[in-house]
Amino acid sequence: MTTMSSVVEMVVNARPVRAEVQPRTTLLDFLRDELGLTGTHAGCEQGACGACNVLLDGRVVRACLVLTVAASGSEVTTVEHLGTPDLLHPVQEALWRHHGLQCGYCTPGIVMTAVDLLSRISAPSDAQVREALSGNLCRCTGYAGMVAAIVEAGRTRDEQAGVE
Ligand code: FES
Ligand code: FES
Repeated sequence: MTTMSSVVEMVVNARPVRAEVQPRTTLLDFLRDELGLTGTHAGCEQGACGACNVLLDGRVVRACLVLTVAASGSEVTTVEHLGTPDLLHPVQEALWRHHGLQCGYCTPGIVMTAVDLLSRISAPSDAQVREALSGNLCRCTGYAGMVAAIVEAGRTRDEQAGVE
């Protein structure tokens, strides 16, 4: 039995992308295997862990649960677009300072969840950050440092916005 492939077009990290994919190819596999964007991690691959979180049209989604054909026409942002080793994104910088990671496997998903949260709530409370992170599993660090980092990233940005 042959499977028809489909042509998809989307903008990934501000770059237009056009490709032929199988109908069952997940956005996670497409980003990692076709585009080489391996910062998006594969964990459970069934929607439970949040390691694969990316932004789809500005909102966080689990890339393992999105078919690439369904993302056609959309804008996708992965962790590669947020910062560089020399100039970290404020959330990444805060996570580093608060020891919010250990092995780092969950970290890209945590960062994308935080960026989504901060786009909706400028200075989230401890409880709001914990609720947002409830869909991200970390097996080695614990969450205290992550929560402190994301709360601080929100407050810092809020203070800076007040100065301008
Ligand atoms: S790999 Fe997608 S939620 Fe775990
Ligand atoms: S830092 Fe290791 S899984 Fe979160």
